[in-house]
Amino acid sequence: TELKHIRNFSIIAHIDHGKSTLADRLIQQTGGLTEREMSAQVLDNMDIEKERGITIKAQTVRLNYTAKDGQLYELNLMDTPGHVDFAYEVSRSLAACEGALLVVDAAQGVEAQTLANVYQSIEHDHEIVPVINKIDLPAAEPEKVRKEIEDIIGIDASEAVLASAKSGIGIADILEQIVLKIPPPKGDRDAPLEAMLVDSWYDPYLGVVILVRVVNGVIKKGQNIKFMAGGTEHLVDRVGCMRPKIETLPELAAGEIGFITAQIKDISQTRVGDTITTVKNPAAAPLPGFKEVQPVVFCGLFPVDANDFDKLRDSISKLRLNDASFSFEMESSAALGFGFRCGFLGLLHLEIIQERLTREYDLDLITTAPSVVYKIQLTHGNGELELHNPADMPDPTKIDEIQEPWIEAVIYCPDEYLGSILKLCQDRRGIQKNLTYVGGRAQVTYELPLNEVVFDFYDRLKSISRGYASFDYYQIGYREGDLVKMSIMVNAEPVDALSMIVHRGTAESRGRGMCERLKDLIPRHLFKIPIQAAIGGKVIARETIAAMRKDVTAKCYGGDISRKKKLLDKQKEGKKRMREYGSVSIPQEAFIAALRMG
Ligand code: GTP
Repeated sequence: TELKHIRNFSIIAHIDHGKSTLADRLIQQTGGLTEREMSAQVLDNMDIEKERGITIKAQTVRLNYTAKDGQLYELNLMDTPGHVDFAYEVSRSLAACEGALLVVDAAQGVEAQTLANVYQSIEHDHEIVPVINKIDLPAAEPEKVRKEIEDIIGIDASEAVLASAKSGIGIADILEQIVLKIPPPKGDRDAPLEAMLVDSWYDPYLGVVILVRVVNGVIKKGQNIKFMAGGTEHLVDRVGCMRPKIETLPELAAGEIGFITAQIKDISQTRVGDTITTVKNPAAAPLPGFKEVQPVVFCGLFPVDANDFDKLRDSISKLRLNDASFSFEMESSAALGFGFRCGFLGLLHLEIIQERLTREYDLDLITTAPSVVYKIQLTHGNGELELHNPADMPDPTKIDEIQEPWIEAVIYCPDEYLGSILKLCQDRRGIQKNLTYVGGRAQVTYELPLNEVVFDFYDRLKSISRGYASFDYYQIGYREGDLVKMSIMVNAEPVDALSMIVHRGTAESRGRGMCERLKDLIPRHLFKIPIQAAIGGKVIARETIAAMRKDVTAKCYGGDISRKKKLLDKQKEGKKRMREYGSVSIPQEAFIAALRMG
């Protein structure tokens, strides 16, 4: 295809504004899908994605569209992930395109994620085509939203398409605007190959599939290619595109987006943002923008039943085949036995992996307190240590300084919730940087320690704003903090899964909260159980679970036989989900519940 007949674009939107539905409509309208296939959303193809309604992996689809000028165009639609945890993948997808459809919900209007994404898109010099979606909703206010797009984002929205992805309104207009407004790609097919690795995933039949944007040159079967950052060489054995079904092509040339396979077994060799060139006639320099993605949130995953350890290892290895951004290494804990210390791009990423392990692989897991990566300067010139696990915290006398990662967060909310949101940020050691009003809504910028955000900040924000606040963040580097390790002891036994690094100033209230919650979560035993939070040897909070009264147990064994059997079954089930701490049993749910701050 000639460059001037190619359009590469992505769809940017706040979560739930209808990006995937619109993508499916565009595919359907251009002949890639039947109405029946439409019913199963195509671009969100994992179960969990579907349930949570979020796109995790970027995917791309090629559409053939005959425009009103009679010309056949090749449209490459790139679907991008919709969550802050996957920001780097988004940035590479955007770098592969020349334009973007900006989808805004006609009832919800512009939100934080809309803004964050659109600014990124503008940074990539994209031509932006605004689409006001869901105009079928009774609450739709398209004119108000049109004005919001102009006032808040500052782009011309006078020609914004009024659409309903759900009922198919405005789709033809959107296709026409893509061709008319988004510029064709630039590139030179005769130059040495430079292709950007946009995404990769593991396919059981094809091996590792790599999504590429060819910037210059041509990529085809039989070529020896080289990953400039990864350093490895491979033989291309397949080149193609998705419509969304896989189609093999003779080549991908400058300006085009498509996939290749090259007999790669291990996804960790394919780094998003890397430059692919040929061994024979390599490019002089890699494309700009490569970044190594690093996990930022760590936690331990342990099987509830120690016999499941091998199964957990197999399952984690399988998941990792498809997700190079998640890391794991074996870990052993005094209380929890053998498990894995895992690293994630963020809390949502953590939850997704945890849920897949539980659901797809049928594993009962205990997740330890999520922790960020601390940098510890040791005394006596003993260098620096990266701490991924609170359990590995060195003795305080050996620590000169502890640094923690900070983020800058932008929160966007209706005015009425601003007070409680400011309080939440303040309680989490936030430093207010900016507060402005746009279109009757407040936009507040805070610097916050990542540690204070990873637990439940997002949940809290959503609950105090009844779901109206949106939140976006990026890391801004490390700062020194007065941080200490807080241990939790149940019946005088330290529970390492619950130990965490906290700020000294909030340690006492965190400790008290944790003890109070555990008191409610741990069932009574035949004896009294003290629960304590401590820093070093010093107890900072304490609760006691009273002993069970004898007659309560006695009652269990009366009654008729079927009730008794039911009870025994229930107990058996309960046993499976309990961890024994010395003589105390702690239900699995207690760990997760205890880690949610009240
Ligand atoms: P992420 O993948 O999480 O970013 O969400 P998304 O932006 O892809 O949203 P999605 O397409 O999954 O749509 C979210 C919800 O809005 C779904 O329940 C859709 O059925 C619904 N929806 C999408 N478009 C329309 C529309 O035009 N009108 C109405 N009424 N609902 C719509």
